[in-house]
Amino acid sequence: MKLKTGSFPNVVILMIILLIAGFSVKAQDGEKLFKANCASCHKIDKKLIGPALQGIRDRWESEENLYAWIKNSPKYLEEMNDPYATALFEEYNKTPMTAFPQLGDADIAAVLEYVDNYQPPTASAGGEGETGGAAQGGGVDPLWFLLPALLVLIVLAVAFSKAIGALINSAKEKDPDSEKVLPKVISLKERFGIFLKHRFTILAIVIFVLCWVFGSLWDGATSLGRQEGYQPAQPIKFSHKLHAGINKIDCKYCHVGAEKGKASVIPSLNICMNCHMAVSEGPEYGTTEIAKIYDAVGWDAEKGKYIEDYEQKPIEWIKIHNLPDHVYFNHSQHVKVGGIECQKCHGSIEEMDEVYQHAPLSMGWCIDCHRETKVNFDNKYYSDYEALHEKLKNGEIENVTVEGIGGTECQKCHY
Ligand code: HEC
Ligand code: HEC
Ligand code: HEC
Ligand code: HEC
Ligand code: HEC
Ligand code: HEC
Repeated sequence: MKLKTGSFPNVVILMIILLIAGFSVKAQDGEKLFKANCASCHKIDKKLIGPALQGIRDRWESEENLYAWIKNSPKYLEEMNDPYATALFEEYNKTPMTAFPQLGDADIAAVLEYVDNYQPPTASAGGEGETGGAAQGGGVDPLWFLLPALLVLIVLAVAFSKAIGALINSAKEKDPDSEKVLPKVISLKERFGIFLKHRFTILAIVIFVLCWVFGSLWDGATSLGRQEGYQPAQPIKFSHKLHAGINKIDCKYCHVGAEKGKASVIPSLNICMNCHMAVSEGPEYGTTEIAKIYDAVGWDAEKGKYIEDYEQKPIEWIKIHNLPDHVYFNHSQHVKVGGIECQKCHGSIEEMDEVYQHAPLSMGWCIDCHRETKVNFDNKYYSDYEALHEKLKNGEIENVTVEGIGGTECQKCHY
């Protein structure tokens, strides 16, 4: 029999499937790369330290120049003599952009891809009292993934119905008797039915799903390494070592939300001014850094009072810790109810001049702690308190961990 008719497109189709799976991983990479390398200075839809990056490809004469610029802009300025780049550099007060020799062409392509497809986050996601923050894009829309998948299925269906037709014809040619058992014409619907039930179709779907799952798992795993240790430069050189360490200011004096609510909240400049009305000079930077606070709130240090009718400028602190939107994390649940110290999750903040992300913030990290940590069981608000208490009393269990009260159930952490 002429099985060959069907097997050629199969290989091609398999490759398409693998390519698409690979591409979706790439697109997610772009977001991670952007956040890790560019978000400290660039937003996509707003000017930050550098220009908004929306529509960036249209502004550059060639893709090649754009890539060269991103890899090493100081070198580009020196060597290329590009009037557009020089003017831009002047416009941004000669602020040098970091060089990224570690980024390959594929990485830059992924970043630009992410920039091109960026959708501003919806307003409802806010309200956590963040002051500023890195640009946030939702992950890859599953629809973009389904569309090519559907296309592939259609191509498969056509190929198969052709193959089935060919098979039947060749069977008829070889063995005229088969006319009796084989139908004269097979309707499209029947062909499609055969296609759907075929082993290969099922195999293709399984491979497709596996690629997707492994792709996103792999992506998740690599992203951990990128976020852990994330330490962007902040707009004011605020030092936790100086404030929380040397001057022993309590964390909760500034991060008022930690005991009360979901988010810890970055303090407003009014809290800074409680002290900095009086303290106008620091040990390291003299008056320059504290002057930025004054400039933002409109404080006239010479006269010792606020400037009237001053339009305050918010300081855009760069958000360091950032869980994906589908994860629910609540500070007061941990700090107040669980009695966990900030340092357990954030490291020795009081020794950091610049804060960095100490923990991976991965799912495994949350769950490991929930498995190990015993809860203070005097608290009666737990839903199955009675039942668990009974078990504790008759020695069935020795203690109750966070897992015991349901802390590893998916819906506790996922919306
Ligand atoms: C330290 C801050 C900083 C970082 C980090 C940074 N940039 Fe920039 N970028 C700038 C500034 C400032 C400019 C404006 C030109 C100048 O002053 O050099 C700029 C300009 C650009 C431009 C040209 C914009 C235009 O309007 O034509 C592109 C493209 C760009 N950056 C891409 C990136 C990408 C991609 C990353 C991350 C891989 C990145 N930048 C990281 C500061 C930064
Ligand atoms: C005087 C006020 C003040 C005190 C006291 C203070 N912080 Fe902060 N904290 C800030 C400001 C301002 C920022 C934002 C700038 C930065 O990241 O350095 C911040 C940022 C942070 C961040 C990073 C937030 C993010 O973007 O993800 C963590 C974590 C943090 N603080 C923890 C602590 C802990 C733990 C303590 C006590 C040991 C503490 N802070 C004490 C003012 C304060
Ligand atoms: C059980 C771990 C844990 C403990 C304990 C903890 N944090 Fe956090 N913190 C996190 C996580 C996770 C995030 C990221 C939250 C997000 O992105 O939604 C975060 C974010 C923050 C932020 C950024 C703003 C925000 O709320 O998203 C600040 C500031 C902060 N923590 C300060 C503190 C301080 C101060 C304490 C102690 C009083 C503390 N944290 C205790 C895990 C912890
Ligand atoms: C409870 C009092 C207090 C609060 C609140 C406070 N500071 Fe300070 N700050 C100090 C003291 C004390 C110094 C150090 C003065 C010295 O040692 O000479 C200082 C120094 C500084 C310096 C100078 C650093 C240097 O090395 O030159 C900066 C910048 C600064 N603070 C920023 C902030 C910001 C931003 C906030 C609000 C998020 C803030 N401070 C809130 C007490 C405070
Ligand atoms: C250092 C240990 C530790 C880490 C890390 C930790 N947790 Fe927890 N978590 C606890 C403790 C302890 C409790 C129980 C508080 C109590 O007694 O109710 C808790 C409770 C919770 C609860 C409520 C569970 C319930 O059944 O009521 C949620 C939701 C939660 N954590 C989410 C998270 C998420 C999301 C992360 C990771 C981003 C995380 N936790 C990381 C220790 C931790
Ligand atoms: C204690 C909190 C917690 C529990 C319980 C939990 N998750 Fe998660 N999950 C997280 C956090 C935090 C992340 C984000 C990790 C990251 O960004 O790397 C996450 C991410 C994910 C992701 C996305 C993976 C990725 O690579 O982006 C999936 C899917 C997921 N969780 C499924 C589940 C399922 C299914 C369960 C129940 C068996 C579950 N989670 C239970 C905290 C939790």
